[in-house]
Amino acid sequence: MNWLPGLAEIVKADEPLAEHTWFRLGGPAEFFVRPRDERELGEVVRRCRENEIPLRVLGRGSNLLVADEGVKGAVVQLAAPSFKTVQINDNVLRAGAGASLTELVQRCARAGLSGLECLVGIPGSLGGAVKINAGGRFGDIGSVAQSVRVIDSTGYEFTRQRQDIYFGYRMTNILARVILEAELLLVPDDPERIGRLLKEIWMLKKTTQPTNSRNAGCIFKNPRALSAGALIDKVGLKGHALGGARVSEKHANFIEAGPGCTARDVLALIDLIRQRVRDRFEVELELEVEVWQ
Ligand code: EPU
Repeated sequence: MNWLPGLAEIVKADEPLAEHTWFRLGGPAEFFVRPRDERELGEVVRRCRENEIPLRVLGRGSNLLVADEGVKGAVVQLAAPSFKTVQINDNVLRAGAGASLTELVQRCARAGLSGLECLVGIPGSLGGAVKINAGGRFGDIGSVAQSVRVIDSTGYEFTRQRQDIYFGYRMTNILARVILEAELLLVPDDPERIGRLLKEIWMLKKTTQPTNSRNAGCIFKNPRALSAGALIDKVGLKGHALGGARVSEKHANFIEAGPGCTARDVLALIDLIRQRVRDRFEVELELEVEVWQ
């Protein structure tokens, strides 16, 4: 490949993506790239642009469905230690996009810093969380984000400040190709109190959502003032199976992958759910999960 010289050590061809996702579904990436530092990442981004190679960024694969055919182009993952650094100075946390959200939540709790409790049980990467403003009923990451450092498609690196970023419901206006790092502003609090809150939110999650199966969190966004889970439940699809995919019995906005499941099964089940909800409620369900096809 003419875009590879000097990058061969960090590029794998036809890497199966299934094992990099929580669904454990989907085909390979034509090029799977794990840069070791920002310089290499910048080089990969620039070369992809120059050679018109589509570039996707993979976080921890917890909100992602990859098609069975896999994806053309480059899939970049910020898995190297240099992308996972975490620094805490007073009540400001600065971390790399590849850092695990779960670890950040725990670390803040131990340090007596409040603000990330609403993210407990969300298994993604910091970069992915920032990009879609991850969160739940108790808040989202956008409420604590102070600045976000990014790389655009020309490889140019810059920082966006909080006032320039729109954090909406599971979306932001961050268009840069890659998120590198984020700075979060937290509030000092009693570690024990934070610990109790984490436990409460986690228990609530555990009793209302499937936590031990292959899934990608909520499949659909909640339509304005409505609950996607309740709508799917009302059309009678809870527990409904299609091939190896099944609507969770515990929460109807989750699809669980069982033995023999393919991405095609999940996509077909998504279509069926949308159609039933449209027919019955005239509501168009919008995907929350990211689909690569
Ligand atoms: N409900 C049903 N049947 C179901 C599921 C839910 O009737 O099968 C009803 C519940 O009884 C409740 C309402 O629907 O009255 C809302 O359900 P829930 O409280 O479980 O919250 P949700 O709106 O479905 C949201 C986020 C979750 C987040 C939880 C808790 C979305 C799409 N979902 O769920 O986020 O964990 O609040 O904070 O915004 C995710 O983003 O992947 C995700 C799971």
